[in-house]
Amino acid sequence: MMHLILLGPPGSGKGTQSGQLSERLGVPKIATGDMLRAALRDGTELGRRAKQYMEAGELVPDDVILGLVGEALAAAHAGAILDGFPRNVPQAESLEEILQGNGQSVDAVIVLKVPDDVIVERMSGRRTDPETGEVYHLKFNPPPAPIAPRLIQRPDDREETVRHRLSVYADQTEPLIRYYEENGVPIHWVDGTQPIERVRSEILTRLGR
Ligand code: AP5
Repeated sequence: MMHLILLGPPGSGKGTQSGQLSERLGVPKIATGDMLRAALRDGTELGRRAKQYMEAGELVPDDVILGLVGEALAAAHAGAILDGFPRNVPQAESLEEILQGNGQSVDAVIVLKVPDDVIVERMSGRRTDPETGEVYHLKFNPPPAPIAPRLIQRPDDREETVRHRLSVYADQTEPLIRYYEENGVPIHWVDGTQPIERVRSEILTRLGR
């Protein structure tokens, strides 16, 4: 049983690492950004409520997010890799309540460190496979040629929106590092500018795996 939080600014590699860690550790990932994009694609009521916030690079209201993750957390009996949640202190407090109710807690927090200028470059080259959800980068993680034509670029990856998302991260999400420090949860800082495989192996080493 492991509840692991991946923290880091937009584009720091949370999605890339959470998928691989989930396979390696045998625990499901709960990625709120992916879940919201799926709701948008499916045209659900929740997706309609989230759309304007996501396009503007703002956080989606907490009640929408908690409605989304509550069920997934309840079903995650082996623990979970949390990617993109919690995103602010009220969400972290709600997570704690949910886990405590099941006799569980957050085991560790991984913070991926990547400077803003690197992030802007990453976002401009990011492409996603709409069929598998796999994330690629035109330069750093090129997709296989046969699937290249079907890849899409996220609408919130425009430079101006990325810069706004970075400021939302600094204002609302970064304070979680202190929150978890004060709560005695182990925090592992990992240099997210290393190659993808190196980032993954450093995370696993820090977790003793
Ligand atoms: P979300 O989807 O969670 O976006 P994000 O946190 O901004 O993170 P990204 O998905 O943009 O980046 P990432 O860190 O996963 O990086 P990736 O692996 O893709 O959220 C989107 C929106 O949904 C939010 O703005 C908000 O509106 C809403 N939302 C979501 N959760 C919410 C919540 N809890 N509360 C409220 N609102 C919420 O990598 C980026 C690129 O870099 C890729 O191309 C990748 O191939 C490449 N790359 C990755 N690692 C490396 C490496 N080591 N070297 C070189 N390239 C790399």
